[in-house]
Amino acid sequence: MSRFTERDALRGDEPALEEVERECFSDAWPGRFFAAEMEAPRRYCRVLVDSGGQLAAYLFCAWQYLDLHVLKVATRPGFRRQGLAHSLMESAEAFVVREGGETITLEVRRSNIGAQALYSTMGYSTVGTRPGYYADGEDGMVMTKMFTAREPLYDGYEHEKTG
Ligand SMILES: CC(C)(COP(=O)(O)OP(=O)(O)OC[C@H]1O[C@@H](n2cnc3c(N)ncnc32)[C@H](O)[C@@H]1OP(=O)(O)O)[C@@H](O)C(=O)NCCC(=O)NCCS
Repeated sequence: MSRFTERDALRGDEPALEEVERECFSDAWPGRFFAAEMEAPRRYCRVLVDSGGQLAAYLFCAWQYLDLHVLKVATRPGFRRQGLAHSLMESAEAFVVREGGETITLEVRRSNIGAQALYSTMGYSTVGTRPGYYADGEDGMVMTKMFTAREPLYDGYEHEKTG
């Protein structure tokens, strides 16, 4: 990990992002989607580059109220199983805590056992499924991790109404 540097995704990274994206996803984003995300408000867009400046991994997220939603996370095939995605997700978690967010949520393909293993080892739980979520009809599993101890919505007792 020490030979990698984490930084914000920057305009100009699109060609490298597009290249890695095509190696990682059947429904790859074009570069202009990455550019639009970098310029949109309330985003968290980070990359890891190696000592030679090669883009090795990236994480693109968008705030949805107090939830940081993971739009994309990927590691270039030659750089996998070195903790890069884990490291980017850890940084996102620290960011959510710093910003007073409550959760990180993502969708993952039902067949993507590797990514599910990554999220499970980091404490993400499957909270639902979205049938046919992906363009090819595959279901999305919704996984989330909570960073604040929230009051339970209903604790079984009647309370006096306030407000
Ligand atoms: C899923 C993905 C992002 C993981 O990236 P990575 O940098 O290789 O992951 P890490 O090295 O940080 O993995 C950390 C841990 O997650 C788990 N894990 C990650 N990939 C795994 C795999 N293919 N199979 C099983 N467990 C896996 C392991 O516990 C791993 O620790 P270990 O290597 O010590 O066993 C990468 O495989 C990828 O880019 N896949 C294609 C795109 C994709 O599916 N993105 C996720 C969309 S939801």
